[in-house]
Amino acid sequence: MTAQKKSEYAVPKLKDFSAKALDAAAKKLLAALEKEAAAVSNEAEWKVFRDRWIARTNGILTQINDQWLKVAPKEAKRDAGQKVNELKAKVTGTVEGCEKKEIKVAVTAPAKIRDSLSHQPQPVSGTLDITLPGTRRPLGAEHPVIKTMNEIVGVFRNLGYSVEEGPEIETDYYNFEALNFPPNHPARDTQDTLFIAGQENKPLRERLLLRTHTSPVQIRTMEKMKPPVRVVCPGKVHRNDAPDATHSPIFHQVEGLAVDTNITFCDLKGTIDHAMKALFGSSVKTRFYPSFFPFTEPSADVQISCIFCGGKGYRDGARCPNCKASGWIELLGCGMVDPNVFSFVDYDPKKYSGFAFGMGVERIAILKYGVDDIQLFFNGDVRFLEQFG
Ligand code: DAH
Repeated sequence: MTAQKKSEYAVPKLKDFSAKALDAAAKKLLAALEKEAAAVSNEAEWKVFRDRWIARTNGILTQINDQWLKVAPKEAKRDAGQKVNELKAKVTGTVEGCEKKEIKVAVTAPAKIRDSLSHQPQPVSGTLDITLPGTRRPLGAEHPVIKTMNEIVGVFRNLGYSVEEGPEIETDYYNFEALNFPPNHPARDTQDTLFIAGQENKPLRERLLLRTHTSPVQIRTMEKMKPPVRVVCPGKVHRNDAPDATHSPIFHQVEGLAVDTNITFCDLKGTIDHAMKALFGSSVKTRFYPSFFPFTEPSADVQISCIFCGGKGYRDGARCPNCKASGWIELLGCGMVDPNVFSFVDYDPKKYSGFAFGMGVERIAILKYGVDDIQLFFNGDVRFLEQFG
């Protein structure tokens, strides 16, 4: 195929956009396509052929799009659109088909290799050189937040917990009311909430919001399951917080719930202590101190001994910045399920007791991997993400 032959066909500007004229123009184009395709005999020629027909800038397909479709008068747009689409399919099909033909030629085993293999069984077609390197596709890495979330869930799965999920768009009832946050209760202020707009006419409990925590999945689980219950509920949550190094309007939590006869605070302590050791190493210590959550009574915040300074409060002769020299890092909230919560789901509080806990996944990932800015998890910079492969 000579350069001259190649450029014989040029896309004509159309004056007449009738179906007949479009058909005639399409016929000429296809004839040129077939002719040029038949003339392709090696890879270099195929590439020229491909670019001439389907290159984004000024390939023939782009030209017919611009000159036959875009400028077609309104009443002819439909026909022109159909025709151009048809041609696109035919042209790409032919170009790709031609590549396949090409590959057959290109990958035939070099004679030397073929000879060295001649005492071995030959592939039936004899056209594929299996000694050529394959196409290397870069492997993705698990996102550090998902990786950490799976790890947390894995720790509890090993303890016999199952996994429950719930919706990210929740009602006020599940996110707050059934968790013992009455309407207008000040505890609601601790979770700056994003409400869906335009719901003023609905009763408060039916209004939709982006869940501020995974605790509503506790309620949904207890509504559909009788004790004994042992579940973890991983998921995404939202708060109206401005993004900075430690805040993000989107983050993830893992909630836990165990309900049975005779569940005690000791069970809660033992479970959390075990989980923290599984996540951060067996030398980590835990400490519980009083806190408040409307849905647990009593409630506690859990701190772990600082994993950066080993709980000493100082490191390399200086105050440890990670624990502000206290030796402890606050990590999660927990407590014994408040009997009021049981009454929302028809569990008998005299018969059953339970504990619950909730932890922030990014917070745990930040500590585990020494990340100094929560935004790194959400910016999508592969240089950061590929470190977690
Ligand atoms: N939902 C709480 C939050 O987002 C965390 C939490 C605290 C969950 C105590 C619990 C719990 O289940 O018992 O801040």
